[in-house]
Amino acid sequence: MTEPDLAQVQAEALAAVAAAASLAELESVRVAHTGRRSPLATVLAGIGGLPPEWRGEVGRTANLARRAVEAALEARTATLEADEMGAALERDTTDVTLPGDPHPLGALHPITQVRQEMEDILLALGYRIADGPEVETEWHNFTALNTPPGHPARSPSDTFFVAGHPDRLLRTQTSPVQVREMQHSQPPIHLIAPGVVYRRDDIDATHSPMFHQMEGLSVDEGLTMAHLKGAMLHFFRELLGSEREILLQPHFFPFTEPSVDVQVSYIDKNGRSSWLELAGAGMVDPNVLEACGIDSERHTGFAFGCGLDRIAMIRFDVPDLRLFFENDLRFLEQFA
Ligand code: PHE
Repeated sequence: MTEPDLAQVQAEALAAVAAAASLAELESVRVAHTGRRSPLATVLAGIGGLPPEWRGEVGRTANLARRAVEAALEARTATLEADEMGAALERDTTDVTLPGDPHPLGALHPITQVRQEMEDILLALGYRIADGPEVETEWHNFTALNTPPGHPARSPSDTFFVAGHPDRLLRTQTSPVQVREMQHSQPPIHLIAPGVVYRRDDIDATHSPMFHQMEGLSVDEGLTMAHLKGAMLHFFRELLGSEREILLQPHFFPFTEPSVDVQVSYIDKNGRSSWLELAGAGMVDPNVLEACGIDSERHTGFAFGCGLDRIAMIRFDVPDLRLFFENDLRFLEQFA
């Protein structure tokens, strides 16, 4: 092979390298132009058979040609690798204009909705929210609330006691929060305590062994039944409509004296007006104030407690209390 032939072999190899459009194509070019059967390899293999005066010159030129082709292959490999990487990145980019995956939004439970409405009304009157434990001591739930040992409410047939701890029970009312708060603060006290309470009751449309209450307590100088009545009237009118009237009917609670049942006017489905019993209330018994370290000569207070579940039933026209606790989405979704 002569020198012009070698120059042509090199030129063809370089052109093929430049024309390879993919790494796969480039690999075929490498085999064809530098492999064992390539023209270049043939020239290099044939050097030994050339006349001695040609060997040096042809060998040098052929080696230069091979190196040039190898350098071109290397450069082209780098370029094609970068191109293919760029193309892959482009294919993989996130399309930010695609719609997102829908994420179903939950909604507040109807009892939570009612609780928050009640809280809003009472917070606006100046009450603050207080909290207490659901596992209580007998003393906080009963004794301090003027309900002495032997009182029927303290019997295990009405109250859930904690096994092995005769002094511990699931609170039967939110009233022990009054006790805890009065022990740690002095009047004026204006608090509400929403929460879960427990009583041994068989489950039916209007009874559940677990239900919700909202407690209210005001202690200050000079508070009277008139303040209690005004607070209840305002509360139920805000909650259930400004046309509501309230009726306070004498009742008994161990920790209030006098005690009342708060009844709220109600027009039933047949258009007849009646009264609904929606809260218990009364003037805090001086014994309770004293048990909590508050001077009952100087201070008076009123307290009220109402069931949230009952009010939610009226509010949303739900006939069966159990629906609130079964967590059936078909029911709950109606309040979204
Ligand atoms: N704790 C009483 C009950 O559960 C309700 C109540 C609260 C009554 C506050 C008077 C004052 O029935």
